[in-house]
Amino acid sequence: MERFYITTPIYYVNSTPHIGHAYTTIAADILARHRRQRGDDTFFLTGVDEHAAKVARVAAEQGLTPQAYADGIVVAWRELPERLNASNDFFIRTSDAEHKRFVQGFLQRLYDNGHVYQDVYAGLYCVGCEAFKTEADLVDGKCPEHDREPEWIEERNWFFRLSSFGPQLLELFERADFVQPGFRANEARSFVEGGLQDFSISRAGQTWGIPIPWDPESVAYVWADALVNYLSALTYARPGEDLLETFWPSVRHLLGKDILRFHCVYWPAMLLAAGYDPPRQLFVHGWLLLDDRKISKSLGNAVDPLDLIDVYGADPVRFWCVRAVSFGQDGAASLAGIHERYERELGNDLGNLLSRTTAMVARYREGHLRAAPSPAGSVAAAVAPLALDVGERLDRFDVTGALERIWEVVRVLNREVEATAPWQLAKDEARAGELDRVLYDLVDGLRAVAIALSAYVPKTAAAILAALRQPAAVDWSLVAYGLTEETEAIAAAPPLFPRIEAPVP
Ligand code: MSP
Repeated sequence: MERFYITTPIYYVNSTPHIGHAYTTIAADILARHRRQRGDDTFFLTGVDEHAAKVARVAAEQGLTPQAYADGIVVAWRELPERLNASNDFFIRTSDAEHKRFVQGFLQRLYDNGHVYQDVYAGLYCVGCEAFKTEADLVDGKCPEHDREPEWIEERNWFFRLSSFGPQLLELFERADFVQPGFRANEARSFVEGGLQDFSISRAGQTWGIPIPWDPESVAYVWADALVNYLSALTYARPGEDLLETFWPSVRHLLGKDILRFHCVYWPAMLLAAGYDPPRQLFVHGWLLLDDRKISKSLGNAVDPLDLIDVYGADPVRFWCVRAVSFGQDGAASLAGIHERYERELGNDLGNLLSRTTAMVARYREGHLRAAPSPAGSVAAAVAPLALDVGERLDRFDVTGALERIWEVVRVLNREVEATAPWQLAKDEARAGELDRVLYDLVDGLRAVAIALSAYVPKTAAAILAALRQPAAVDWSLVAYGLTEETEAIAAAPPLFPRIEAPVP
């Protein structure tokens, strides 16, 4: 049994979630559910990042205190994992009292260990990124991420001696799988090799944030507060238990490429400075673009994932997100794509396969499936390597590749129906044994596929198993050929994915 602690970034609450945020949460949930299937001791964390300057600004625009504003909008953010059917073990808010206390202790450790000093920061700050910027980060004087000129700030801040961590960080990057995929590791490594500059971990003249313990007039810089959530949550997620011992450092951080430096460079250094082990692994994924454009409120393409779920349901949204764009790469998805995949892949490939299989068992065998495995058949050959192949891909965070591997078996099963034409076999009494074997292979293959799919589309998987009158357990060892026993009372199943008329919300 392994320990597997998976995190999403905590999302800024300056506006409501869009499909890009749902993307990371879905991927993390797939990995968490899969590890639970394998029996690993798993913990899945997501949540929100509240102490950002941009949050304070939006609150002010609405005439609210930042806390009152955050308390309101957090409802929508909690709804995101809930409606996605994500199995997160905890939802952290950085305004939680326990988190605030932990951050103060963490910063105090940096200070006590001699990694912090006071200086004046005179330079640029992009509120969109919540990051200090140098001229080299800008294009035509603007932050390329936010297409906006950063602000000039000049304040007395507390600095973290990042510059002294170069060699230790480079050593970490020697570990082949520390940052995945490899090209992102190279990006992080060359940032370190380019020479590290100390960075400010406090902000002056602001009240929204966690007070610096030795200088309560200043508050923690939002990243020095937010990153620490990955540790702090473990200390209070389960009342009365400290999960740090169990899950640190077995952590895998999922993050978008926009926040690579903070996670792959700043965070490991801060951990080392405070006396913690660095994370086990970081996986950096690309952008989910909608119709080739970055998703943003100002472009008017910020699709609300909850609207999509209202129309299609959580499983199709989960399925589409990881299938549309190869996880790890940048890629364009489209809303037309979700409708297409709903009808063609989920409706036809999978849904019809279940309808046909159950209808045939009902019609030709009065719902009674005989145990008639064919260990040398093509279904057995397709299912046998599935558990290993999918597991191996998911160990590499290849969420898209693993799903495609499962889908190959779905296609094998559909071909099996066409190739064996059970409706012909049913006409010929002499071929009853053959028909029994085909029906068995279809039911058993679908059963194995459903269990393999259950991390991706948990409700659909449960519905398939129920329709096949199979146990609801989804242990990974059940992704194997020939485990279906003689089964009674299989009835023609209603469509898994009924037609939807209004395609795009
Ligand atoms: N609050 C920081 C993270 C702190 S973690 C200690 C932050 N928040 S954010 O709200 O901007 O969310 C960033 C994350 O949301 C990205 O890293 C990525 O995981 C996800 N995504 C937001 N838009 C996305 C896409 N269009 N496509 C894919 N992921 C996207 O940064």
